[in-house]
Amino acid sequence: MNINRKIVLKKSPEGIPNEGDFELIEEKIEAPGENEFLSKTIHLSLDPYIRGVITGRHIYSEKVNIGDTIVGRTVSEVIESNHPDYQKGELVLSSNGWQEYGISDGEGVRKLNGHQGKLSTALGIMGMPGLTAYAGLLTYGEPKEGDILVVSAASGPVGCMVGQIAQIHGVEVIGIAGSDEKCNTVRDVFGFKDCINYKTEDIDQRIKELCPNGIDIYFDNVGGDTLDIMTRNLAYEARIVLCGFMTQYNLSTPPPGPNLGPIVGARAIIRGVVVYDHYDKQDEFISKAGKWIQDGKVKFIEDEVIGIENTPAQFCKLMRGENFGKTIVTMQ
Ligand SMILES: NC(=O)c1ccc[n+]([C@@H]2O[C@H](COP(=O)([O-])OP(=O)(O)OC[C@H]3O[C@@H](n4cnc5c(N)ncnc54)[C@H](OP(=O)(O)O)[C@@H]3O)[C@@H](O)[C@H]2O)c1
Repeated sequence: MNINRKIVLKKSPEGIPNEGDFELIEEKIEAPGENEFLSKTIHLSLDPYIRGVITGRHIYSEKVNIGDTIVGRTVSEVIESNHPDYQKGELVLSSNGWQEYGISDGEGVRKLNGHQGKLSTALGIMGMPGLTAYAGLLTYGEPKEGDILVVSAASGPVGCMVGQIAQIHGVEVIGIAGSDEKCNTVRDVFGFKDCINYKTEDIDQRIKELCPNGIDIYFDNVGGDTLDIMTRNLAYEARIVLCGFMTQYNLSTPPPGPNLGPIVGARAIIRGVVVYDHYDKQDEFISKAGKWIQDGKVKFIEDEVIGIENTPAQFCKLMRGENFGKTIVTMQ
């Protein structure tokens, strides 16, 4: 009953991580100190940036060393508190990492008592990935009625929110995703005009058919060949928002970059988005997104497993690109 199960780093992954890079260990649940609280993890978020944290390449987080618990955002319930601001029974967005229980001094913690809808969305479309989509699209994509937007990794929490928020702003949206099943969901659930399966279709040819006047906004979650092809299909004064590089996270050295020459001809603007610059928009985003979900304007999917012991396999699946929807671990 008083055992905490946690996943620690066993060895630094080379290439795509595998389950042997992680180890499940058990230890006694610690008691919270003064001005601290103990919480029980309900949902754990698995995100691509964790791959960079493990190898020390994520500039905003400290490296996870061998034997350390893997980091991650969690939805948890306060079960014991010596902190004046947190009471037993409160639900919080915390950073317990890959473990069933965590201790916090309240730094970086947000209360979820008024959270609307499914709790796990606080880690996905209503959480950091959703805010990335909202801030990146509205701040740098500058969507206008009648624009055409293309987004890669379209079935994930960032991609599906970019596409759905763009549609709310009168933009026509095309997705790019890695399977027919993902593409069907992107069209049928998220309402995109179309979705290209980059593993079986010629993206360049399909983009030319679907966007004969070029792309006004490209929201890039992957880099690589897809980014290269998009730069050659831009409309005049297009905006490119660089958000993520899924094609590179498992490489030890970055590949040669795309030719950015066509950016000049199209008078396009490229902007990088980093979600940490946009937390001032969090309250505004959560209140709008909550209403959009309630009104049926925004939908979501989750790729969920149950049990801390399944975390490494679920993370490796995400890093192979085989996740379908926001990757979540729910505790037993
Ligand atoms: N800039 C920021 O502040 C910020 C914040 C949050 C997230 N991000 C970035 O946004 C992107 C999407 O994040 P997310 O949480 O929504 O993830 P996600 O879409 O749930 O998962 C990543 C997806 O990337 C796709 N992918 C394409 N090429 C891949 C490859 N070579 N290997 C593995 N996967 C590949 C896969 O979908 P397909 O099968 O459809 O290809 C995979 O499902 C990531 O690049 C992430 O790092 C950036």
